[in-house]
Amino acid sequence: MATTSKKKTKTLKKSNNIAPPKGKLGVLLPGMGGAVSTTFIAGVEAIKAGLGKPIGSLTQLGTIRIGKRTEKNSPLIKDFMPLANIEDLVFAGWDIFPDNCYEAATKAGVLDKSLLSDLKETLEETTPMTAVFSRKYVKNLDGKHLKKGKTKMDLAEQLIDDIKTFKKESGVDRLVMVWCGSTEVFIQASKVHSTIKSFEDGMKNNHPAIAPSMIYAYAAIKCGVPYANGAPNLSADIPALDKLAKQKKVPISGKDFKTGQTLMKTILAPGLKSRMIGLNGWFSTNILGNRDGEVLDDPYSFKTKEESKLSVLEHLFQPDLYPDLYSNYYHKVRINYYPPRGDAKEAWDNIDIFGWLNYPMQIKINFLCRDSILAAPIVLDLVIFLDLASRAGLHGIQEWLSFYFKSPMHAENLYPEHDVFIQLMKLKNTLRYLQGEELITHLGLDYYDFA
Ligand SMILES: NC(=O)c1ccc[n+]([C@@H]2O[C@H](COP(=O)([O-])OP(=O)(O)OC[C@H]3O[C@@H](n4cnc5c(N)ncnc54)[C@H](O)[C@@H]3O)[C@@H](O)[C@H]2O)c1
Repeated sequence: MATTSKKKTKTLKKSNNIAPPKGKLGVLLPGMGGAVSTTFIAGVEAIKAGLGKPIGSLTQLGTIRIGKRTEKNSPLIKDFMPLANIEDLVFAGWDIFPDNCYEAATKAGVLDKSLLSDLKETLEETTPMTAVFSRKYVKNLDGKHLKKGKTKMDLAEQLIDDIKTFKKESGVDRLVMVWCGSTEVFIQASKVHSTIKSFEDGMKNNHPAIAPSMIYAYAAIKCGVPYANGAPNLSADIPALDKLAKQKKVPISGKDFKTGQTLMKTILAPGLKSRMIGLNGWFSTNILGNRDGEVLDDPYSFKTKEESKLSVLEHLFQPDLYPDLYSNYYHKVRINYYPPRGDAKEAWDNIDIFGWLNYPMQIKINFLCRDSILAAPIVLDLVIFLDLASRAGLHGIQEWLSFYFKSPMHAENLYPEHDVFIQLMKLKNTLRYLQGEELITHLGLDYYDFA
């Protein structure tokens, strides 16, 4: 039997100095009329009214173990951390269509009409502000509810005015912005994105590599508002905005909410790798019929999404470390726009694996999911955790929030962590660290005799 060691695990301690979450928290949503935003807003209002439960939300339902297993101390995360209360969320946002939140949620067709009619009065009060948009970046949409400005800097200043006006008129204490707008065309980071000056000059000169989502991110960071990007387009994931975020002491995170098929991948792939099971191929295809599907029907927007979805396996399987298992697999991702399905996406995965002596086997997954039902609790958690990060004095890229993203933003010299279990451990250890508790390494060193 193992004896108890006198040795202690090395722990990292931080004193607890998080500012309390007083007052209301404003949630700013570019893409406010979309399926994800309206499912999130209507969902929060339904929860406030006692009409539903926040299923899928770690901040609302998750627990966190403190101390040793024998201590049996696992409070709810929301009791352990000073988090904003769901009751204190207030919404605003922008969209290229003028529909109020009730009309937009009805068109999105995710939530039942009867639930929406119970919330009608509240949802009708939330109307989008005019958007910063150009069809050059989202080819399959054409809205008229837009801002006008000679330069991209003019447009950024109008967004900054919107943010300040909303804060003043609503009386909220703090703000968080989450990009729930459409996926923009594929853009690679280049010289104009490299420094704050080159980026600001680029906005003044209408540089084509500055997309609307970058202008929103710039406006948020300039106002000291934490920013998350739920789509795969670069947005804040460029050196200029990373530098600005550090300078303004603003936490940022992204990219691309991890829902549906990619969530399944990051649950399954670490398990296969943990048992040294090899991979010959992973074919993923989807049908979906919502507005997101329509946008992704354009090859330029699809390319952005494809890059995000493909990158996951490469990092998870680490072929450089396991050449016998993962150096030669074929990975394909297809997204097919199929209107009859609306938001009720269907995803198929065919996975060709091999085991002992290279004998082949197959796994088939058929996931009938609801995209926005999976995305809404992610928006809620990001709002609440980014607000916490801000009050705790964290700024720049928040890698501990990788848990929520398909393409986690990461420091320049690091690779992104995709394993959902490692991501969760990192997230919870960050919370323990912020509250000055011992980190949990799962080593259980106390049970082993190292003498
Ligand atoms: N639903 C999911 O599970 C999921 C998962 C990962 C990522 N995403 C991404 O989240 C985003 C939202 O998804 P969705 O299903 O709600 O899509 P959606 O098409 O229903 O909503 C997007 C909204 O953004 C608006 N919009 C586009 N460009 C804008 C701009 N420049 N300013 C303001 N509004 C703008 C559109 O008019 C639309 O109302 C998409 O980029 C999608 O790829 C969604």
